[in-house]
Amino acid sequence: METAAPSAVIVAIDGPSGTGKSSTSKAVAAKLGLRYLDTGAQYRAITWWMITNGVDTEDPHAIAVAAGKPAIVSGTDPCAPTITVDGLDASGPIRTKEVTSKVSAVSAVPEVRTRITELQRTIAADADGGIVVEGRDIGTTVLPDADLKVFLTASAEARAARRSGELKGKEATDLAATKEALIKRDAADSGRKTSPLAKAGDAVEVDTTELTLDQVIECVVTLVEEKRAGRK
Ligand code: DC
Repeated sequence: METAAPSAVIVAIDGPSGTGKSSTSKAVAAKLGLRYLDTGAQYRAITWWMITNGVDTEDPHAIAVAAGKPAIVSGTDPCAPTITVDGLDASGPIRTKEVTSKVSAVSAVPEVRTRITELQRTIAADADGGIVVEGRDIGTTVLPDADLKVFLTASAEARAARRSGELKGKEATDLAATKEALIKRDAADSGRKTSPLAKAGDAVEVDTTELTLDQVIECVVTLVEEKRAGRK
């Protein structure tokens, strides 16, 4: 694996859904002039491809056989991230309820993880000025040598309230149902055998329950700046 230029900083931001990972990662990357990669979007994209190509998402063998087929391309501008599958814009379809309910099963298949992890490492290695990569296993598995690892947490109530807010107008659902779905997905993501959702031993944990988004962004920006200053 090639490494990025020496001055480039690689930031891994992991944590469960609803902790503000995406908003924080994008804003930190934009503020610091870094690239940005949403790895959840890649797992959603391969899940969407499986659904639209008739692959049974309950069948790990069928998923494993098809894992190498879709061409998934991520655009890493934090102000306008993009994702295409076989040349088609997938940014809308990957956010549907169907994809959300099936992504944990698809992303648990080792062949899918190997494929997507390779893509992630290539993107990080090619990000000249550095990159913020958000996901579940970035600090533990994908980029264990990242310069800074942050693990975001929040209470299940706070996470469900944030998710519900995001869904408003699209696929609005009640808070209790959102909380239940979120806890179920976290349990699946944390309990799988291959690179589960986990905090790396050297990650800084930030509990965002009582913090505003701006406060979380500020906190992570400060952590990155401290890292950069320490490397000079
Ligand atoms: O962050 P998100 O909700 O868009 O992620 C969707 C799913 O993708 C999540 O439920 C588990 C999976 N995922 C993963 O397994 N590993 C990652 N690094 C990122 C996401």
